[in-house]
Amino acid sequence: MATLLAANWKMNPLTANEATRLARATLGAAQPHASRVEVVIFPPFTWLREVGAIVRGTVVGVGAQDCYWEETGAFAGAVSAGMLAGWCRWVIVGHSERRTLFGETDDQVSRKARAALDAGLNVIVCVGEREDQFDGGQTDEVVSAQVHRAMSRIDPAATNSRLAFAYEPLWAIGSGHNARPHEVLPTLELVRHVVNEVGGAGAAIDLRVLYGGSVNEENVTSYVGLPGCDGCLIGGCGAHKFVRTIDWPVRMLRQPIGFRRWIALMASTARSHWMRSRIHGATGALHSKESATARPSGRRSAAALVKQR
Ligand code: PGA
Repeated sequence: MATLLAANWKMNPLTANEATRLARATLGAAQPHASRVEVVIFPPFTWLREVGAIVRGTVVGVGAQDCYWEETGAFAGAVSAGMLAGWCRWVIVGHSERRTLFGETDDQVSRKARAALDAGLNVIVCVGEREDQFDGGQTDEVVSAQVHRAMSRIDPAATNSRLAFAYEPLWAIGSGHNARPHEVLPTLELVRHVVNEVGGAGAAIDLRVLYGGSVNEENVTSYVGLPGCDGCLIGGCGAHKFVRTIDWPVRMLRQPIGFRRWIALMASTARSHWMRSRIHGATGALHSKESATARPSGRRSAAALVKQR
């Protein structure tokens, strides 16, 4: 399965001309690398037609940033998954901006995911903890509950090849402060584990788990090189920069296998530090020297982590 790079344009750009131009630029960058990187653009609803016209029949996919779970009816302002199916093949549900700015609940996210899968769309479900939850060491608890609830209406065995989860810590989104890759890895694994738990062993075999939050052309390789990270959801680095992020993972994937193994080894070393630190307790002796690679706890705030970078 190719690495997925998803461009969330959010409420940009302002005009159809600009959307068309950006879609062409993205297509130009993606085409030479189609065997390694799958690129999907998520423009606002208004530009689905323009972007769809540019990428139709090409290697680049297109998706919407949200949908509603009811099929049709008196739901002013809403767009159903079935309506989208005529325009695109993908949809994002449960983005943190929908959750925090528009009050979307886990239950609504699961309804949307189910409706979108029923409509034949590929779905990216976003999950992630707030900064205070990260600081309080609650990441696992929060993310696991979000994944469980999102999955409550989904049969993973039937849909996991069309399902992706994006782990996006809220404090990393749009802040320029990406979560450090070795801290992201256990959460990506947790997401896969929960889906397996819900659907039974092997249910998550085709599931794609992505990282999102201040990914850019400089740090994207450190995520796509992680075992268990199937790509990135990329927002505010801007569509121009997004084009450059396509190139970097490709360079990375061209590296000899030894190099990729080295990255995997680094990641698993960091993970084992974390596991040991959990076993010995958050304030155990292992933390004294090794806390730089340990899972963050309340003692190391997100702000502190940012300062360290
Ligand atoms: P960001 O956004 O890349 O601007 O942090 C990611 C997202 O919102 O999905």
